[in-house]
Amino acid sequence: MVDVLLGLQWGDEGKGKIVDYFAKDYDVVARFQGGPNAGHTLYIGDKKVVLHQIPSGVFHPNKLNLIGNGVVLDPVTLKRECDTVASFGVDLRKNLFISERTHLILPTHRALDKAAEISKGSQKIGSTLKGISPAYMDKTGRNGLRVGDLLDKNFTTSYIRLRLKHQKLLDNYNFTEDISGWEEEFFEAVEFLKQLNIVNGEYFINEQLRAGKKVLAEGAQGSMLDIDFGTFPFVTSSNTISAGVCSGLGVAPQTIRDVIGVTKAYCTRVGSGPFPTELEDATGEELRKIGNEFGATTGRPRRCGWIDLVALRFACMVNGVTKIVMTKADVLDAFKELQVCTSYNIDGKESQEIPFRIDRLAVTPIYKKFQGWDIPSSAAKSAAELPETMKSYVSFINEYLGVKVRYISNGPGRDQIISVD
Ligand code: GDP
Ligand code: IMO
Ligand code: MG
Repeated sequence: MVDVLLGLQWGDEGKGKIVDYFAKDYDVVARFQGGPNAGHTLYIGDKKVVLHQIPSGVFHPNKLNLIGNGVVLDPVTLKRECDTVASFGVDLRKNLFISERTHLILPTHRALDKAAEISKGSQKIGSTLKGISPAYMDKTGRNGLRVGDLLDKNFTTSYIRLRLKHQKLLDNYNFTEDISGWEEEFFEAVEFLKQLNIVNGEYFINEQLRAGKKVLAEGAQGSMLDIDFGTFPFVTSSNTISAGVCSGLGVAPQTIRDVIGVTKAYCTRVGSGPFPTELEDATGEELRKIGNEFGATTGRPRRCGWIDLVALRFACMVNGVTKIVMTKADVLDAFKELQVCTSYNIDGKESQEIPFRIDRLAVTPIYKKFQGWDIPSSAAKSAAELPETMKSYVSFINEYLGVKVRYISNGPGRDQIISVD
């Protein structure tokens, strides 16, 4: 049986913390898409760790973690992450597995990402510049190199051939930055990667399922960044929604049970693109300050705004969400009044749908006002201790979405989460 946990907004919903919390109930945690563009924050004791490619179950002894074929993997970032994780005493030889079909991010993919973003000028996506889009382009263009290729004696020849192709593209962009240092680092990391458990991911995971083991598929980014259903072109390059689990791991649709969607109690976005409920005022600034809304991967300030139920209902629909986890409810402790977007005004017409090319339309959110929490939520340890005003906020959201919030997270700590079933 596979449960899926993924983001319902524009990423950074707190997936890492929630996966770490749920991991005790599963045997395998598997990443199915994305790559080092992700930054999943966990607290191990009072130490903060940000994982980019390693699944967030890695700190639980005796659990297996799989980097699936749908991921694009940068050996350099992986090596760095492995060093961090190993410093906590985790034995990665025992609990980390990597699919041989996982595509590699090469140094020239990172350079191409940068060159492409520069060339877009004011239309830039706001990419994390980790090489995600060029690596997925080489996958769908049938040129990419995969983890399994590292074990082939002709790997260097294939690498040089692809690098030459990339160099022509870089010349076209007039990209002149010296990346020879990146290449040295890459080959060092490749040697490290070859020592890890490289497996046939689809057999690995299906054998686990046949043996009755429970798998948690960990999403990266968020549903509104999905390549098909997000705010294209301001999206990432993979299917971040639940449909990506089957192609990203090699599991059949009927193995999927729950789809757990994570949303913040408000909303953030990092990078460019439409964000109807964005607050470019003192309230937005306060959300950013109190929520510590700065990117876990790039350090960039996140754009902040009120929760958008139009976008959330859309995300629940395309994912088939069965349960919701609401994070960062404590961040709203400081606000006297809250707003919830219930529809959009698009060119004078009210709508509850996400339109095609939302970025080209003037969208004004229509809000319902809520009273802020009557008591602070961050100290609460049980549902009974949560503010009454928070309960009405959540029950309105439950009704609007037709899916229930089952957990409320009220702090970044490992156990700051309350079941509200
Ligand atoms: P992810 O990419 O979805 O894993 O989320 P990130 O790690 O990028 O960003 C979430 C941030 O919020 C991290 O700094 C977490 O430590 C923090 N966080 C997660 N849950 C909560 C919560 O309930 N309250 C507060 N205050 N912080 C939280
Ligand atoms: P996690 O897993 C938030 C955003 C970037 C940019 C767009 C494309 O931590 O939630 P890319 O590097 O994929 O070419 O960037 O997507 N983005 C994220 N935003 N959280 C993430 O991951 C993100 N990964 C990519 O900011 O706007
Ligand atoms: Mg993140």
